[in-house]
Amino acid sequence: MKIAIVKERRPHEARVAASPDSVKRLSGLGLEVLVETGAGDGASIPDSAYEAAGAKIVKTAKDALGAADIVFKVRKPIGPGSEVAGEANEIALIKKGAVVIALMEAYKDRALIDAIAAKDITCFAMEMVPRITRAQSMDVLSSQANLAGYKAVLDATAEYGRAFPMMMTAAGTIAPAKCLVMGAGVAGLQAIATAKRLGAVVSATDVRPAAKEQVESLGGTFVAVEDDEFKQAETSGGYAKEMSDEYKKKQADLIAETIKKQDIVICTALIPGRPAPVLVSEDMVKTMKPGSVIIDLAVEQGGNCPLSEFGKVVKKHGVTIVGHANVPSRIAEDSSVLYAKNLYNFITPLVDQESGKLTIDPEDEIIKGSLITQGGKVVHEAVLAVKTDGKASAAKPKTKAKAKPKTKAAAKSAKTKSAKPDAASE
Ligand code: NAI
Repeated sequence: MKIAIVKERRPHEARVAASPDSVKRLSGLGLEVLVETGAGDGASIPDSAYEAAGAKIVKTAKDALGAADIVFKVRKPIGPGSEVAGEANEIALIKKGAVVIALMEAYKDRALIDAIAAKDITCFAMEMVPRITRAQSMDVLSSQANLAGYKAVLDATAEYGRAFPMMMTAAGTIAPAKCLVMGAGVAGLQAIATAKRLGAVVSATDVRPAAKEQVESLGGTFVAVEDDEFKQAETSGGYAKEMSDEYKKKQADLIAETIKKQDIVICTALIPGRPAPVLVSEDMVKTMKPGSVIIDLAVEQGGNCPLSEFGKVVKKHGVTIVGHANVPSRIAEDSSVLYAKNLYNFITPLVDQESGKLTIDPEDEIIKGSLITQGGKVVHEAVLAVKTDGKASAAKPKTKAKAKPKTKAAAKSAKTKSAKPDAASE
């Protein structure tokens, strides 16, 4: 079987779906890897490195996609029409009956999913792989969020006109930066760890009670309204619930008091399948010191701060508000290597080395969670539940946009897993 790796052509995307290491491993599974020339440029991986690892370099995307039985991508393939200006329809180039594995955003663009099904392409969405113990090494949400959390802090240091650590010098003492992390999931915990390493005084907030111990174990101070609602704010899958208006008010009052004293705010709070909660209002921004910095990692889901703008760095009320698009892509070398390893871990159990074919067991929990199209049809229940008019954002999927464990046993096993950045980043 042949696997294609092509250049990613969507805006703000520098990652690539294979590394020299993953190419070597895939070759070890008996697969022939075809890499489009220049596919690794954004991640500083030259053709020669892929070649040395055993890949065959081909001249165009058409050469790779037209020959491949399996296509590894970072972002969903470009579809018909002028979806991405000036770029070819990748679905048209992919062989009928091939398998595509990528970040599909399957709820957002039903027309594209239908086009993939119509071409009889079997398609898996990596972001929908259930976060069960067995699938931890395939967890792209964790591998990418972990790096985004790290990069968010570095982006803050770049915008901040002062130092992070305390420095006692002959010329005087510099006070340490105060950094508040909103949302202590995978990205937030890594942001806490990174800001601590840089010497900042770090606090963090979350609505999940489990986050308290994790924040404290990283040396952060936990800031939250710990009432009865807070004690039940975690779903069986380990995610946050949307909180009541009453809780939101109490939380906002506490954050308003805290935020005044902060120099840096890193926003990572998300609720799967819903717009990001608004946690840093314009009034709160007005109370921050001039020169403070807000990094809004939630900007693609609407933002935790209403003043953040997607893909832009803006200054409002003296505060720099950063809304970079696709933060994992800003650290493309490492995010590509981890993503490529996630893909390798996903495909390995499917490869039957004797027959040289893929075995796709529809009863397997990981397959069930991530298989979107097969046999010319859309087969994923929750994706099917979304309207077919291509305006899926108006319709809510029955289940969360981020896959959560479907069985009680799986939920239990997911809950027992560490969400600490280093554990989650494999
Ligand atoms: P996420 O990206 O959906 O959300 C980020 C964080 O925002 C979460 O910690 C959430 O509780 C928090 N949040 C939501 N609303 C908030 C609000 N109003 N105020 C403050 N914080 C708010 O979550 P992520 O990072 O993908 O994972 C969250 C949790 O999922 C982990 O901490 C862990 O418990 C679980 N998980 C389990 C894994 C597994 O393999 N079983 C792997 C990764 C995560």
